Amino acid sequence: MKKLFLFFFLNLYIGAAYAQQKASLAPTPPMGWMTWNYFGDNINEKDIREMADAMVASGMVEAGYNYLMIDDGWQGGRDNRNNIIADPKKFPSGIKALADYVHSKGIKLGIYSDAALLTCAGYTASLGFEEQDAKTFASWDVDYLKYDYCHAPKDSATAVTRYTKMGEALRKSGREITFSICEWGPRKPWLWAAEAGGQLWRTTYDVRDKWKNLSNQENAEGILDILDINAELHTYAGPGRWNDADMLVVGLYGKKGPSGDLGGIGMTDAEYQSQMSLWSVMASPLIATNDVRNMNEATKRILLNKEVIAVNQDPLGKQAERKIKNDTWNVFVKPLQNGDVAVAILNRDDQAKSYSINWAELGLTGKYEVRDLWEHKTVGKGKNWKGRVQSHETKLFRLKKI
Ligand code: GLA
Repeated sequence: MKKLFLFFFLNLYIGAAYAQQKASLAPTPPMGWMTWNYFGDNINEKDIREMADAMVASGMVEAGYNYLMIDDGWQGGRDNRNNIIADPKKFPSGIKALADYVHSKGIKLGIYSDAALLTCAGYTASLGFEEQDAKTFASWDVDYLKYDYCHAPKDSATAVTRYTKMGEALRKSGREITFSICEWGPRKPWLWAAEAGGQLWRTTYDVRDKWKNLSNQENAEGILDILDINAELHTYAGPGRWNDADMLVVGLYGKKGPSGDLGGIGMTDAEYQSQMSLWSVMASPLIATNDVRNMNEATKRILLNKEVIAVNQDPLGKQAERKIKNDTWNVFVKPLQNGDVAVAILNRDDQAKSYSINWAELGLTGKYEVRDLWEHKTVGKGKNWKGRVQSHETKLFRLKKI
């Protein structure tokens, strides 16, 4: 009996320690910059080093974007011992040297693979080599793995098995590596991805640089399409487990990369500001993918807004609930650790409109001081707010009880 008790408590202890280790990898939503939607698979070490320099010089790192993620296209096959290698033409100094460089700038390095024989862009992937590849990534001092699902069977059971395999391989790799699960949502990863070892999981197909999928084209998600899927999943998010609404396309203006495909014609700055506001209240990872070396003022203002980032990174780790949902207005409420509440008000209409809301409609009783996080000023005190919201604009407020 005594032995049984001991066994029980030991298991409880190991379980709790494991859960804590997993949460410690991403206690708040990961933030960073990823190669994919600017460069596609046309990547190399020179451009990536320049991006790392620019992430520091532009203030991105200081604002919290502390991962640089290499997406698809870095791989050069396997050597005669089956170790995965980087393309020697694109990465002549190798990934370890790049990791050292990136780390010297105070940035962590992410890399990419796929749970099949080939990645989405057709490069060497990790199926059957999970432990070996996880060890290789650890030996390169990689801090984050995005693990994709192209060329893999459609059923959920296989996905769970394949992701669990890599999750365990990473855990045994000897290095703490954040695990980003990218099967795009069809197999409901919010139900199993944390158990498989993931700290974040994509909830939709790839983001395109556009407001909405007007033509119902398959796999052509705009901001509103992603919002409508991701918003419903708010109960699954928390410290160490995040719904990943895909990259911020802020600053791309439809000019570059895969998010410019499938009708990704670009957006207005008001729409980019909406993506930043909505991804922030939804506690989605904030992963930019624009040319950080050349950002205009509007892009900097959106990506580097520290008050907005603080809402995303709030340690309570709640994803906002969409309390009001109609064709024009969506209102989101995100409780924050110090008792404040973030409220996002989106105008989905094609016209600017006036709006009036009593905070009590959102379940917020009493009086509040209202700070506009885009204007950086207090815009009201009391039980309600009234104002004009531009077409596709999202107001983001921080309410403090008074
Ligand atoms: C998939 C992913 C994208 C990107 C590409 C790379 O489409 O969803 O985010 O990683 O593969 O080929």
